[in-house]
Amino acid sequence: MRTSGLLYSLLASASSSLASPAQQLWGQSPLEVPSLAIHSSLPLSHDLIGLHRNLTSIESISYNELEVSKWLQSALKAQGYSTELQEVEKDRYNVLAWPGKERNAKLLITSHIDTVPPFYPYKISHNDSDTTISGRGSVDAKASVAAQIIATNELLSAKKISPDDVVLLYVVGEEVHGDGMRAANDLDLSPKTIIFGEPTEGKLASGHKGMLGFTMKAIGKAAHSGYPWLGRSANEVLVKALAALMQLGEHLPQSEKYGSTTINIGRIEGGVAANVVAESAKAQVAIRIAAGTPGDIKEKVVKAVKAATKEFKLPGEKEDVVEIEFAGTGYAPVDIDSDVPGFDVFTVNYGTDIPNLDPVKGQKRYLYGPGSILVAHSDHEAITVKDLEEAVGGYKKIILHALDS
Ligand SMILES: *[C@@H]1O[C@H](CO)[C@@H](O)[C@H](O)[C@H]1NC(C)=O
Ligand SMILES: *[C@@H]1O[C@H](CO)[C@@H](O)[C@H](O)[C@H]1NC(C)=O
Ligand SMILES: [Zn+2]
Repeated sequence: MRTSGLLYSLLASASSSLASPAQQLWGQSPLEVPSLAIHSSLPLSHDLIGLHRNLTSIESISYNELEVSKWLQSALKAQGYSTELQEVEKDRYNVLAWPGKERNAKLLITSHIDTVPPFYPYKISHNDSDTTISGRGSVDAKASVAAQIIATNELLSAKKISPDDVVLLYVVGEEVHGDGMRAANDLDLSPKTIIFGEPTEGKLASGHKGMLGFTMKAIGKAAHSGYPWLGRSANEVLVKALAALMQLGEHLPQSEKYGSTTINIGRIEGGVAANVVAESAKAQVAIRIAAGTPGDIKEKVVKAVKAATKEFKLPGEKEDVVEIEFAGTGYAPVDIDSDVPGFDVFTVNYGTDIPNLDPVKGQKRYLYGPGSILVAHSDHEAITVKDLEEAVGGYKKIILHALDS
């Protein structure tokens, strides 16, 4: 959901006039959390709002995560964490940090540090009842990152957990293909429990739908539009194929937990002009899977498209008139643990990095974070300070539960 350049520059100027006074004011704000670092020998920070501001102020649209990775590593290092930058590809690094001696700790806490485009600057505004922070990444997922770190620090300072209990992992590339989390499979970690941070409105997610993405390419033959029988319209082929997909959509598996499997025809393009028979056309499709496996659905898609378009084949033509290119293998619905007492539980319809990290036998996985996914990728991405602070409490509960069991 992109926004206009005008709105962007309005936001930018509004923020630059607000940013410095707000930042100067911040030191005196009643919302600042006082330091609790009494028992710990680590110089841990408990400045939730400051950490969130520093993270959100750095632009880190997927593929441009270098600055935020380096900043986060140095911030954790300065607090006494051991850190590691894992190169995912040139200038793109995951950040691994552990406060004790145990790199392969039994609890892994993780989220992502890339964001979707475009960038909106950090802005904080107050009214009588709320303090609201807006900006790209302020929810998805820098709210989770900041709340996770502060929750960990508070538990460490209060000696409720041991430094050897936890390891933090912040990955790049979640918003694109999950290459950051897939690279994390090479880190030689085998945690008993993982807490994933994504906006869940402070609830525990008990699962999310699976996913299968693909591109369909219709193969046409150009001709003058007055003599269409001399060619084959790729646009007509594609329309037939898409109609078949829409019909198939009504018969894909459902489940009580996740509802219907849904098909989104997200992008269509084809042809060059009204008076030319289209030589090529293509569509990008995403299926959100509520039941069954991506393999089954793949088969159904191929069969339906083949049947709907075989009438376009020329005599003796062997190749299909529609090529389907699947984006990877896809994944089935992802069940997530939700047995921590005291939380509302629901399912979410968005994908996460969870299927990209190979599970360890008997491992528990939780998904929790502040803020709403409904604003996450929008031009009005924002979170209240209250929700951010509550998430620190939420993460502390989940961490304690995980280390208790
Ligand atoms: C945020 O950045 C400022 C400016 O570099 C720094 O002084 C402050 O310590 C940082 N705070 C946190 C919590 O990272
Ligand atoms: C204060 O801000 C919040 C969050 O932006 C909003 O929901 C609320 O309606 C506002 N309240 C007042 C009194 O303006
Ligand atoms: Zn996210």
